[in-house]
Order: sequence, then C-alpha cells, then structure tokens
Amino acid sequence: MIEARRGALLAWYDRHRRSLPWRDAADPYAVLVSEIMAQQTQISRVVPHFERFVEQFPTVEALAAASLRSVLAAWSGLGYNRRARYLQEAARHIVEHGWPDPGALQTLPGVGPYTAAAVASIAFDEPVAAVDTNARRVLSRWAGEELDGPALQDVAASELPPSRAADWNQAIMDLGASLCRPRPECGRCPVEPWCSDPSVYSPPGSQSAFDGSIRQARGAVLRTLLDSGSAPVSGLSGLGIEPARLQTALESLHADGLIEQSGEAWAVRD
Ligand code: ADE
Repeated sequence: MIEARRGALLAWYDRHRRSLPWRDAADPYAVLVSEIMAQQTQISRVVPHFERFVEQFPTVEALAAASLRSVLAAWSGLGYNRRARYLQEAARHIVEHGWPDPGALQTLPGVGPYTAAAVASIAFDEPVAAVDTNARRVLSRWAGEELDGPALQDVAASELPPSRAADWNQAIMDLGASLCRPRPECGRCPVEPWCSDPSVYSPPGSQSAFDGSIRQARGAVLRTLLDSGSAPVSGLSGLGIEPARLQTALESLHADGLIEQSGEAWAVRD
C-alpha cells in the first residue's frame, strides 16, 4: 500500500508539479532563500519576492556583503522581517565557515526543524522528511488520525521513499496546497484509494488578527524608517498607531536588531 501510494503521488508530481523558480535550480542558496521566505507566507506571494531578491542578491556572497538596510528593503512586503536578518546572518555564516553538514542546517540562524529538513532534502538530496502544516494534514488523513509530535515524524519518515526525497517532500507540499487543502478535493486526488480518512483535519491555530496587531505596527514603522532614513517617535505619529503599541513595536524591532536609536531618532540599522 505504501509502495502504491508513493508511486501514484510521485507520478502525479511529475505531471502536475508547480513550476517554481528554485526548483531544478540545484542551488542551495536559492533553496534556502525560498524556504525562509515560505515560512508563514504563501508560495504564490513568495515567488515574485524571491525573483527580485535573488536578482539583487544572486549569491550567498552577495547577500553576506550587503547592508542590512538593503536586505530589509528587498524583503519589503513579505512581513516577518526578522527572517530577513536571520537569512543574512546565515549567509554570513556560510561565507565564513562553508555550508554546514546537511544534518546540521539547524545551526544556521532562522532555520528550524522543518526548514532544515526541506533544505537538506531539496538542496542536498538527503533522505529526510520535511513536515510542515500541509504535510501534517496530508499524512494525518492517510493515517486516519490527527498526528502530531514524534508520532507525526515517525509516520513521515516511514512514508519517505528510499530515493527522491526532494520530489517526495515537494509532492506532499503541492498536494497539501492544491487538492488536499482543509476542504479536500478527493475526486481529483491521485492517492485517494490509499487515504484512510479525508475528514481528519485539525485547523491550525489561527494567525492572530493582523489589523491592530504589533506585527502590523512593526511593518508600518519599518517601511516608514526605510523611506525616511530616520524619525523621532513623534515623527511616527502620522502612522496612527496607538502610542503604547508604537512603543512595543519599536522595542521589538530594536530587540530583533533591525533598528537603532540615536538620540531621539530611530533609524534602520545599516
Ligand atoms: N512550501 C515551502 N517550500 C516549498 C516548496 N519547495 N515547494 C512547495 N511548497 C513549499
């Protein structure tokens, strides 16, 4: 059953896989950029940002040598800006020490278990399963029960084919993003005969409402500082952010190493 399901999914992937600019590039740097961008962000939104970003910073050396300001500016619109800083720190680490062993990618800033496994398999062909929320939903439906934690990792590892880990992981990602969404389209699914229970689905914790959030305030402040060079707190009042939230946003951008204060004025770090 596992064999048949594998064959069917890989055959589907060969015919229907999404054309994404980092696929087939065989460039670990491009894969790392794409995976950091894809954290918390839909692939359709990632693609145009990715293309602009790698045009501006085509190599890990170019990114390492850039100013933080230019990296943050190139990241504009993607949100969760600390990812940009982590990515640049990772690039600097790689330029200085070389790429970590594929099993040690988590030592790079901003790289957690999922991203490490995705990069290891996609860029370095390591036989490891990359399990994100989409994969969790797909695998849970195959198993017929909500999977989490070590049980989820065990199932993911046992489903992994002996070769083609990169294609396998991305096949599950594509299936989860298209036919095996929270509301599944089982009639078109290539592995429907081997699925235990498509009704299994635990909605992921909903993202905190964006409007009025600190995340929204952080984004607005950073955009303003990137545009204006620097501004005192009073100069940010035009953003219409409630003062306590503005202060929290400034403090958290500062704690993330993205902005600095000189006298009364705040500015993006160089
Ligand atoms: N989500 C994160 N990484 C992805 C990839 N390489 N392909 C499809 N979806 C993804």
